[in-house]
Amino acid sequence: MNHSNSPIEARPILSVRGVTVQFGGIKALNGVTFDMQRGQVLGLIGPNGAGKTTLFNCLSRLYQPSDGDILLEGESILARKPAGIAKMGIGRTFQNVALFPTLSVRDNIRIGGHCRSRGDLVSDALRLPWVLREERELDRKIDEIVDDLDLGGVADREVAGLPFGTQKRVELGRALAAKPKVLLLDEPAGGLNHEEVYVLGDLICRIRDAYNLTVLLVEHHMGLVMKIADHVVALNFGSKLAEGTPAAVRSDPAVIKAYLGSEAA
Ligand SMILES: Nc1ncnc2c1ncn2[C@@H]1O[C@H](COP(=O)(O)OP(=O)(O)O)[C@@H](O)[C@H]1O
Ligand SMILES: [Mg+2]
Repeated sequence: MNHSNSPIEARPILSVRGVTVQFGGIKALNGVTFDMQRGQVLGLIGPNGAGKTTLFNCLSRLYQPSDGDILLEGESILARKPAGIAKMGIGRTFQNVALFPTLSVRDNIRIGGHCRSRGDLVSDALRLPWVLREERELDRKIDEIVDDLDLGGVADREVAGLPFGTQKRVELGRALAAKPKVLLLDEPAGGLNHEEVYVLGDLICRIRDAYNLTVLLVEHHMGLVMKIADHVVALNFGSKLAEGTPAAVRSDPAVIKAYLGSEAA
């Protein structure tokens, strides 16, 4: 039996269908369409102003497209409230780290897990057995994440004093605690040095495998994308310019021209 041909396997985990976003007179996105397959690292590239962050913000329900649809496992996410997106299985990090600076690394990660808990004020106050069980499970999960992200040495330290690269790993940990199916990363390499970018690439691949993730990696710089992406979508002026393997997209004349054009500008 050929499992790869079964309809379940063939269905993309995420479908972006003709997504259009208009800001006044500017079409930040113009009918963008692509699919993400389960387990993929999909690199979304394009010069500054191409529409990458706008698409990212549609996927995380910060922006409402004026046209088109976004389907997660066949179900539209656009009807959901932004707060419901984590429960549906979409997790994200921020381009500029957004953590609680005076809380510990562990507590910052723990906050990510709470979108998954069933607890409410009354059940929590009564310390009902299932609340305690859930808390214990969450503790175990957080220990695992702390280990996997090499945060053991700083787990009880306040986030504020930690290096930027470490804070980025804490943010990744917080996203993982919500048990996402699809993880959205907006320019995770921004502000990191060459060595840190290399380590980050390995880490993204490792957690993709360990947590059964599908990853959307938004990057302005091509290096990291070319190293770890299975599939690349290139945007320019809000439209899809090219899509395919990293090698094919990198050598696509339209993509080269767009990047050269943006550097000359
Ligand atoms: N909130 C906004 N209001 C108005 N215009 C915006 C807004 N966000 C983005 N844009 C415009 O939309 C286009 C795409 O921007 P963006 O998605 O940030 O590109 P990228 O992330 O690829 O650099 C740009 O022309 C930008 O100026
Ligand atoms: Mg951007």
